[in-house]
Amino acid sequence: MRAVGKKANKTKGEKMEIKDKVTKAINKQINAELYSSYLYLAMAAYFEAKNWPGFGRWMRLQAQEENSHAMKFYDYVLQRGGKVVLDDIKAADAEWKTPLEVFEDVYYHELKGEKERALNCKDAL
Ligand SMILES: [Fe+2]
Repeated sequence: MRAVGKKANKTKGEKMEIKDKVTKAINKQINAELYSSYLYLAMAAYFEAKNWPGFGRWMRLQAQEENSHAMKFYDYVLQRGGKVVLDDIKAADAEWKTPLEVFEDVYYHELKGEKERALNCKDAL
């Protein structure tokens, strides 16, 4: 992430301070990313239990990707001298009736995530 504004003039090695408001918003996003990872891992388990290994593998990859998003935010907060606060992660659903229902849930979860990210960014400004 490129530094902008007045703080962009800091010399290499100095940490740019991160505002509490921004840290709080990023911590909220870390939780959201971890919840997504948790949900997709639950979906992978559902598929694997139903003997649909291809779907299971794909959902595992999605879970890993969401976890990597969380870790990017985590590393960013630490690099800026902020405090990472890991809150409770909501329990993930574990039952679906069909593979289609799983993928519909993925779709709606992603849409919801988009809206939440936009609101979270607004709160940080
Ligand atoms: Fe993500």
